[in-house]
Amino acid sequence: MTIKEIYNLALQMGIKSDFRGEEGVKRFLDSKRKQYEKMTDKEEFDKEALENPYLDSGIHNISNDKDIKRVLVGIDIEPAEVLMAKELNVDLIIAHHPIGKSLAHLADVMSLQCDVLNYYGVPINIAEGLMREKVEEVSRGVNAKNHNRTIDSAKLMGQNLMNIHTPCDNLAAKFLKDLIENKNIETLGDLIDILKQVPEYKQAMKIGAGPKLFVGSPENRCGKIALTEITGGTEGSPKLYEKMANAGIGTIVGMHVSEEHKKQAEESNLNVVIAGHISSDSLGVNIFLDELEKRDIEIISCSGFTRISRTG
Ligand SMILES: [Fe+2]
Repeated sequence: MTIKEIYNLALQMGIKSDFRGEEGVKRFLDSKRKQYEKMTDKEEFDKEALENPYLDSGIHNISNDKDIKRVLVGIDIEPAEVLMAKELNVDLIIAHHPIGKSLAHLADVMSLQCDVLNYYGVPINIAEGLMREKVEEVSRGVNAKNHNRTIDSAKLMGQNLMNIHTPCDNLAAKFLKDLIENKNIETLGDLIDILKQVPEYKQAMKIGAGPKLFVGSPENRCGKIALTEITGGTEGSPKLYEKMANAGIGTIVGMHVSEEHKKQAEESNLNVVIAGHISSDSLGVNIFLDELEKRDIEIISCSGFTRISRTG
């Protein structure tokens, strides 16, 4: 496969598992086109936004556009991993977390969370209103980063480099949704037990990073379970918890949660189950990599990523 083919496959898989559905993704891209058409200074617009609904993902360097046979995959790729890639003689590095331009555009994918919240019953006007503030906060937050550090290293070392963030998080969210939905899971303890059966979480338990209850007790009943915190860039607004509770959500399953979010969830009587950050990231990345494995691409894992194959 070429680098571009690998990247396009990731985007397609991300769209197929997107909470908005293919129609919703198309609507999002159409709104970008309208925005572009209205602009007077079109130079300022990144045309990739017209085709790619996940601007937190991208191809960052192509030094040698060859047939890809061996990839190095990690959750966070930094210059150290780029050096490792050279030593290990791989054809391509795939990072999960955003780098370069994808990091600068992290906030762009967050509108997806509004649709996820709406899917679980939060009125869209409330979701959009509360997310707007948070999107701006995230956008300012990533502004200060040294965005291109890893990419500069890849260029110097002649390493091909891409990152795939939200498409993989969509795959993890879809996997968990299928695992949990319509199962009549009664208590939080039962929910944790189901999560612990997932190989990535089982693996994480060995290092003390398995699924944990952040708010609620094992004997508490789950009520309606929502996967509002797996995909869509990063954490949403803590003010949303009260609205989620009002919409009838009893328990949220997330990757990670800040103290401020935890407090808000407690005040809203929402239970919070944290599946695990790097393990949930690994889950989504693994589902994508299964497709590369089927195409005979060798996978080497690094930087917290645990490879678990579901092809056999
Ligand atoms: Fe992550």
